[in-house]
Order: sequence, then C-alpha cells, then structure tokens
Amino acid sequence: MDKFILDACCGNRQFWLDKSHPNTLYVDIRNEGPNLSKFRPNLKVRPDKVMDFRALDLKDKSFRLVVFDPPQLFLGEKSELRIKYGSLNKETWQSDLKQGFDECWRVLEDYGVLIFKWSESQIKTKDVLELFSQQPLFGHPSGSKSKTKWFTFMKIPSCQKQEMK
Ligand SMILES: C[S@@+](CC[C@H](N)C(=O)[O-])C[C@H]1O[C@@H](n2cnc3c(N)ncnc32)[C@H](O)[C@@H]1O
Repeated sequence: MDKFILDACCGNRQFWLDKSHPNTLYVDIRNEGPNLSKFRPNLKVRPDKVMDFRALDLKDKSFRLVVFDPPQLFLGEKSELRIKYGSLNKETWQSDLKQGFDECWRVLEDYGVLIFKWSESQIKTKDVLELFSQQPLFGHPSGSKSKTKWFTFMKIPSCQKQEMK
C-alpha cells in the first residue's frame, strides 16, 4: 500500500478518525506503551517508524500530505500532559521547530499540503510562524475560546509564484 501521507509526530494518534489509515506513515521519536499513564492505561505511542522530525530518514518530495503537530508546551518531568504530548525543550525549542518544519517541507511534494497545529497557551502563534521558511495560506482556531489553531500550507512551486510588486 502506498504511503503518501506522513504524520511527523503521531503520538497517540488522538486526532485521527482512522488510527491506522493505510496510506499514512506514522512516525514519532518514541515507541512506548500501553500502560504509560495510570490515568489512561490505553495510551500508547506506537509509530510505524521511530524517527526524529528534525532529521527525517525519508526521500525529498515523497508525501502529498504532511501533518505536523509537535509538542507545544514546556512541561515538567512528571506531568501527565508530557506523557501524552511530549514537551518543548527550553534551550532548543526554536531550532527544533524550525528543523521539524523544514524537514516536513522537504519531504512534501510540489502542490502538497502541510497541516500544522499549534496551541498558543505558552508561545504565541506569531512567534512560531516567524521561525518557518513558509507562511500558511490560512489558519483557524478550533473553537471560539480555544487557543489551538490549525494552519494549512501548500508547497506551490516557485514557477507558479508571482513576483511581488
Ligand atoms: C502534540 S503530540 C502529537 C499528538 C498527536 N497529533 C495526536 O493526535 O495524538 C507531539 C508528539 O511529538 C513527539 N515528538 C517530540 N519530539 C519529536 C521529534 N523530534 N521527532 C518526532 N516526534 C517528536 C512526541 O513524542 C509526541 O508524541
């Protein structure tokens, strides 16, 4: 089965409706669980491949859709949320996110779509988008009071881009 969709940090695959979509390659930096959390015994992070989104072992332009939902919070070692979502590193978060975005972009084919999710509870969306080499076409909060936003990028080849006047 062709894998033309990449989830670059799949975690527990919580937002997937089909958690084993046959055309999707699920990757994460860890392979853990179940029994990771005493509160959520079924929580598990079982990627198809263990991989670091900062250095994806994948060919250039090999996916049509990439979803990038990295850790978005600085969390303590024992935090339950950390078990579920991982944590940003205080020293390296900016370069981690930039490298992750660059890698997702590299493996995306021309005209491919990248979905980026960000919760601005601790870091403003603007400060994260500034790290990226590309800007989204549009983005939307997932609820009027929610701090989580979903952004859509498209890899439009340079020959299709108009000169800025
Ligand atoms: C916000 S969670 C993803 C949640 C997921 N979208 C879901 O629906 O359940 C972020 C994930 O990024 C993973 N992660 C953190 N650093 C990573 C890295 N350098 N490379 C790949 N995955 C990473 C964490 O292990 C964690 O599972």
